[in-house]
Amino acid sequence: MKIFKFVKEYIFKYKIQLFIFLIFSIISWIISIGLPYITGNYIDSLMNFQNRQTIIDFTIKILLMGIINIISSFVVSYSYVKVQTKSAIELNFKALEHISKMPILYFKNLDSAYLNQRINSDSNTLISFVLSNFLDILIRALTLIIVFYISFKINRKLTMILIPLIPLYLAIYFIFKKPLFKSGYELKEKQNKFFSKMNEQLYNINLIKLNSTFEESQKQLRTSFSTMFESLLKYTRISYIFSSSDSMTMIISQIIIFFFGGMEIINENLTIGQFTIIISYFSMIMGCISYYLNLGKSYQDALVSYNRLEEILNETKEINGDKRINSIDTIVLKEVCFSYDDTNNIIDNFNYTFKKGNIYGIIGQNGTGKSTFINLILGLFNNYYKGKIYYNSIELKKLDMYHIRKRIIGISEQEPALINDTIGKNVTYGIDIYNYDDIEEVLKSLNLDINKFQDGLNTNIYEAANNISGGEKLKISLARTFLKNPDMIILDEPTSALDVNSIEKLEFILKEIKKDKIIIIVTHNRDILDILDEIIDLNVVNSLNCEA
Ligand SMILES: Nc1ncnc2c1ncn2[C@@H]1O[C@H](COP(=O)(O)OP(=O)(O)OP(=O)(O)O)[C@@H](O)[C@H]1O
Ligand SMILES: [Mg+2]
Repeated sequence: MKIFKFVKEYIFKYKIQLFIFLIFSIISWIISIGLPYITGNYIDSLMNFQNRQTIIDFTIKILLMGIINIISSFVVSYSYVKVQTKSAIELNFKALEHISKMPILYFKNLDSAYLNQRINSDSNTLISFVLSNFLDILIRALTLIIVFYISFKINRKLTMILIPLIPLYLAIYFIFKKPLFKSGYELKEKQNKFFSKMNEQLYNINLIKLNSTFEESQKQLRTSFSTMFESLLKYTRISYIFSSSDSMTMIISQIIIFFFGGMEIINENLTIGQFTIIISYFSMIMGCISYYLNLGKSYQDALVSYNRLEEILNETKEINGDKRINSIDTIVLKEVCFSYDDTNNIIDNFNYTFKKGNIYGIIGQNGTGKSTFINLILGLFNNYYKGKIYYNSIELKKLDMYHIRKRIIGISEQEPALINDTIGKNVTYGIDIYNYDDIEEVLKSLNLDINKFQDGLNTNIYEAANNISGGEKLKISLARTFLKNPDMIILDEPTSALDVNSIEKLEFILKEIKKDKIIIIVTHNRDILDILDEIIDLNVVNSLNCEA
């Protein structure tokens, strides 16, 4: 029930499609029950009357029912696909949206390919489970009642003989249920891991090439494949044994029907038409029972998916307030502490004030916490830090940092991430208002002539920016920051990949624009120290200890 409640909001968005799906499913069902009955009666009337009109009537009925059935089956599948795909994607997007607003440290140990696959398959499993079963559960129960009733009416004795087959069927199911579920689960996990390994091959292609680790990576792939393959074979074996015992029950039931049914016909307790009706109806009964048994299994699957999705959706979001500001005049830190693991403080009892009109430099050895510090004042660690951080005297945790980062802060990261799109789109990424002519201008001021690229601003940047150089990548990221013209600019290692000439140009730009901005630069470069108004050396800054 909780699964239905959870999924309801996504499925009911498509009410009309859902209604069409239900109506046509019911039509198909009525036909499936009526068809054997009509056929059986037809055979009997042929045996008794051999009347031409009976043949014509029957043929027309069958033709009409066939046509209706084809049409309604099509409408059922079509509307099912529509509702299923749309609702599953809504659920998928909701989980992704939630994840994107979760604290950044949640992703520390996470494999994105795995997570993506997990969300996608869970959303699909859940939605299909509800869509394909909520009507079926009722319809099958009705089928059982109706079909049993008719068979009983036709021939009580034969129906009674067939009933003991049901517990036999149940017993087979319960014997195989556990191993089947276990090996199925194992197979899924192994498949996910194998997929993840395959992904890693392409993702790390540079690393593999540069170190010529072709053999090692092939070996890893093969090992991962063989464990997956073993699970696959095991699963195939168990499901074969299960399904063959399933077919055995079916064969036994047919033998019973043919033997005792035949006897009943000879004794004139059963007509041939009725005999065919019972054959069809009994296989329907078995179908319904097998449906209910499998429902238990697919319910378990759906439950796993439900729990995994809930796990993500119940994860606390990062702290983001609702106060908005339109400019940043000061940033004040008071006794700020931050650590990744609750033991070692990376930022330890830090006090500082940043003011408009200055360029600040953050220096320190590798791993002292420069990039961490940047993320901290940008609000990415709101759930974790101690002490107080104020923007214009408003506490950071009360501010709508999504809005502020989008509008009035520009950041160029230590390892700039670019999107798979054109250079133009990369420079304007996340910026709502800009002048198109300025894009080229900004790139030029950073010593990057856009005309050297074949299609200028429309040149595509490929995955992981393989077709542009490290320095060019950095310049695109810097250009994005300057084009945005924000109130605060943060540059993490802006000079690491720049040539001497470009560094001079960057310094020139920074001096030009610093008047009404707070500019913070993380750097190891001594040359750029000249343009700094103040220097924060993280090697010496962390002095006092924080209260836990
Ligand atoms: N997500 C994380 N989880 C745990 N520890 C982290 C995480 N990110 C960084 N660290 C650790 O925190 C310390 C500071 O890292 P940070 O990236 O801030 O250093 P940095 O001063 O920017 O170094 P660099 O000069 O090399 O860029 C490092 O020891 C690093 O291992
Ligand atoms: Mg860093």
